[in-house]
Amino acid sequence: MLGQQTIITMKPQTLTAKPTLQILKYGDPILRKKVEDVSDFTNLPYLVEQMFNTMHEGSGIGLAANQIGYSLNLVVLDTSNLEGEEDCKPYILINTEIIGSNGSSIMEEGCLSVPDIRAEIERPETIIIKFQDLEQNFYEESFTGLLSRVIQHELDHLNGKFFVDYLSPAKKILIKKRLLEISKNGSPSTGIIL
Ligand code: NI
Repeated sequence: MLGQQTIITMKPQTLTAKPTLQILKYGDPILRKKVEDVSDFTNLPYLVEQMFNTMHEGSGIGLAANQIGYSLNLVVLDTSNLEGEEDCKPYILINTEIIGSNGSSIMEEGCLSVPDIRAEIERPETIIIKFQDLEQNFYEESFTGLLSRVIQHELDHLNGKFFVDYLSPAKKILIKKRLLEISKNGSPSTGIIL
């Protein structure tokens, strides 16, 4: 009987557990490797859902696919939980490329792969990007402010780069021990804001 089979083969926790994935941390070699463009879009909707769940569980506002071990040019963003950003829609960016940038701004950044370390980083204020959606449509769009910042941070991930790479040598010394602790234990013994 089908009903009985279902009871035997499915564990109760698989019915209730959210499909979240483990976030790779600083020190994992996958995060230093440049990703590949997406060519097969078939299984992306499920992966994208897992990425949103994983990001929301970690209270993040952006997540790159290689942070969960998929070396693909795929990023999800959702800033709608932040004050003043409630109207912002979630974004799925595939095969993204920056085709223009303008101005500069300084903003504090953090990262789910570099927990408990935050630092002010200077980046272009506005960017123009080219990307695809899940249906393989192409878009060209300009972003500024927080979204521009999150996108630039996530696109760095796709190129194997972390926000802490931008820090001055003096500030890098301040976080060296913490980065080693993240590589070994997944989190530093103490947090820091630079
Ligand atoms: Ni990050």
